[in-house]
Amino acid sequence: MVVTESERLTLRHALPDDVVAMRTVFGDAEVMRYGDGPKSDRWVVSWITQMNHSYREHGYGLWVVTFKPSGLPIGYCGLTWFPSINGQPEVEVGYRFARKHWGFGYATESAIAVRDYSYIDLGLNRLIAIIDPENRRSIRVAEKLGMQYEGDVMLPGYSHADSVYACHR
Ligand SMILES: CC(C)(COP(=O)(O)OP(=O)(O)OC[C@H]1O[C@@H](n2cnc3c(N)ncnc32)[C@H](O)[C@@H]1OP(=O)(O)O)[C@@H](O)C(=O)NCCC(=O)NCCS
Repeated sequence: MVVTESERLTLRHALPDDVVAMRTVFGDAEVMRYGDGPKSDRWVVSWITQMNHSYREHGYGLWVVTFKPSGLPIGYCGLTWFPSINGQPEVEVGYRFARKHWGFGYATESAIAVRDYSYIDLGLNRLIAIIDPENRRSIRVAEKLGMQYEGDVMLPGYSHADSVYACHR
């Protein structure tokens, strides 16, 4: 199911057939550097199941981003619900693209589409991004979304604090 689109990109629900394409995202150590390391195909299968659960439960999740001219997946962008970030529930914008697709503005373009969908279609008033302070590319995307640094958060299982960026409707 298509959720939203932008000039060059379509954002849709993750499908079982996306495993091979999403391997170039989740299986690449460089792409997963500011995450918890590269993942197996089995992990990607379970991610697709979890996302479909999230679409049903919350009405959103992380969506597969496809490139309009080819129709092929190049990464994901979407929303994750966190029950407590520094004591309050939050919805996070997340994005991750296959290495060969970096540097073309796709993260910014898809994140802007997600931000607008969140405000207009989902009625959300606030979005955050949780970013490793060394992840300059991602910080740049957040800034282009209109987000500002708000403070730090220590997520369970991480050895250092991440930065919290936020924007409002
Ligand atoms: C972060 C990521 C999604 C960015 O994707 P992208 O499509 O290349 O992003 P965009 O092209 O929209 O924008 C990247 C911005 O970072 C800038 N940038 C690129 N390399 C940079 C660097 N080393 N330092 C600082 N800024 C950098 C670009 O110039 C661009 O900003 P500009 O438009 O002002 O020039 C992509 O690199 C990725 O998938 N990384 C791995 C996963 C990840 O870290 N996700 C975010 C987790 S919070």
